[in-house]
Amino acid sequence: MKALVLSGGKGTRLRPLTHTMPKQLVPVANEPILSYVFRHIQDAGIKDVGVVVSPETQNDVRKFLGKGSRWRVRTTYIPQQEPLGLAHAVKTARPFLGNSPFVMYLGDNLLAQGIKEFVETFRSEDLDALIFLKEVENPQAFGVAVLNKKGEVIKLVEKPKKPPSNLALVGIYFFSPSIHKAIDRIKPSARGELEITDAIQELIRSGGTVRGEVLDDWWLDTGKKDDFLAANTIVLDGYIKHDVKGKVDRKSSVTGRVQIEKTAKIVNSRLRGPIVIGKRCEIVDSFIGPHTSIGHGTRVINSAIEHSVILDRCHIENIARLEDSLIGREARVVRPKNHSRALRLLIGDNNVVEV
Ligand code: TTP
Repeated sequence: MKALVLSGGKGTRLRPLTHTMPKQLVPVANEPILSYVFRHIQDAGIKDVGVVVSPETQNDVRKFLGKGSRWRVRTTYIPQQEPLGLAHAVKTARPFLGNSPFVMYLGDNLLAQGIKEFVETFRSEDLDALIFLKEVENPQAFGVAVLNKKGEVIKLVEKPKKPPSNLALVGIYFFSPSIHKAIDRIKPSARGELEITDAIQELIRSGGTVRGEVLDDWWLDTGKKDDFLAANTIVLDGYIKHDVKGKVDRKSSVTGRVQIEKTAKIVNSRLRGPIVIGKRCEIVDSFIGPHTSIGHGTRVINSAIEHSVILDRCHIENIARLEDSLIGREARVVRPKNHSRALRLLIGDNNVVEV
């Protein structure tokens, strides 16, 4: 069994952040999304991982994943010149995949449960594909599946106006090599992409067995700001332990599960978890509220932040209330003195905002 991680694409929905960093590397609870993906792959015992990269993202992705030794896997990079669809990414990866069954994992998807148990399911049931589904409230925005009583997928529809079910397709798929023939038989969709849903539909049409597994734990596609903040909230809620390694002065208070890295300094501030505070941060005369991640080397002075992700080396000063925000690296959000209006921002790397 091999793994194929899709880490190309354009990331238009997370702009301007994704102008300067691939969305798969945007950190959730101070850890890039790709590292959660790789942990799942490692836990599943898979050793050979192909990583589809785009010309724009490849340097950063290669720098972060390297040869994969941190997760005890071997990475092979597969450049995809243009993001022509998920099935196109599989086609591009064919020399790497050979005749091996594989799990395809979208590099911007986060899943509570790992994929370990499904490696065995896929093998033992001799399936052509095993896909994952999640009940959602707005199936119109997703690929949607219809299952029969045996849990087999009988139909897939992309973003249906009248959804035949509320089961959305999750970005993780197990495939046997028979998917390649199905991909060879499909044509690009109206948006000009080779769609994986069309390939799976073709697999079903030609008699293949595709089973759908409905997940009951959370799954998140981190492609948009609000989904991304939801992912950060869930990961902080579920995984952060109280672990204060940095310096907290006597005038400060720390409540709830708060993780503070070794070289961070907290001065005259109130911290209320779950939150993470990165290395070399300085938090002075401030309040950091629940569901916030503060990246490495960021300074927060005389401000209050809640339910936000602030990336590395930012400077936030005199902001009375910053919430529901995603702030890119090295951004400066500064005001000469306090004001009371709440701010909600999505700011790319290296920006300066004076309010
Ligand atoms: P999407 O989120 O569907 O596409 P995108 O990255 O272009 O984002 P946006 O819609 O915001 O412009 O892609 C899902 C994942 O698959 C993501 O990690 C990028 C990756 N991908 C590829 O590697 N190659 C492709 O051709 C496409 C379409 C996506």
